[in-house]
Amino acid sequence: MKKVVIVSSSPRKNGNSEILAFEAAKGAKDAGNEVEILLLRDKTINFCRGCLACQKMLKCVIKDDMAEMIEKVRNADTVIFATPIYYYEMSGQLKTFLDRCNPIYPQVYAFRDVYLLSSSAEEGQNAAERAVSGLKGWIECFEKAKFAGAFNAGGVTAPNDVLKNAEMLKAAYDMGRNI
Ligand SMILES: Cc1cc2nc3c(=O)[nH]c(=O)nc-3n(C[C@H](O)[C@H](O)[C@H](O)COP(=O)(O)O)c2cc1C
Repeated sequence: MKKVVIVSSSPRKNGNSEILAFEAAKGAKDAGNEVEILLLRDKTINFCRGCLACQKMLKCVIKDDMAEMIEKVRNADTVIFATPIYYYEMSGQLKTFLDRCNPIYPQVYAFRDVYLLSSSAEEGQNAAERAVSGLKGWIECFEKAKFAGAFNAGGVTAPNDVLKNAEMLKAAYDMGRNI
């Protein structure tokens, strides 16, 4: 059994990437893992101030919802990030979350496999290329972690659009199931 944390960054309820996140959670639970989904749309997260106090204090000086989420990510075996594609990159919400994980950098962390789920108006996997690349940069900074896979649901625009596409839902489910 693995501890799986899924971080969903769509600001929209029933956002397509959020639906993918829940499908992956279902798959991961069906495979016997312990799963928790963090919905960033319910949280208060401020920008990193770049003060680097976290590198000595091992915690952030900003008092918001990141403190408990950082610990959840740090102690997870597997992390799945889910994001809408905004201007061919990950959402600002997810980038801010990744920046705010900086207190983990000097610490011991459990996570090894890191995945990305995304959704875009444009069809195909290419729309997520730069988001994948951005996440890989983050992963590179955590030596023991590795990029484990990505899936983009392309051709979806309005909330719930992805529900019409069983193949895409299955791809997200399978990502979770095969963790
Ligand atoms: C600010 C903004 C920028 C976007 N930029 C892109 C883009 O560059 N390429 C694309 O294919 N879709 C783009 N979209 C469409 C979203 O990626 C698409 O609607 C996606 O399904 C949203 O995910 P969500 O439902 O999880 O929020 C953009 C949407 C917004 C609001």
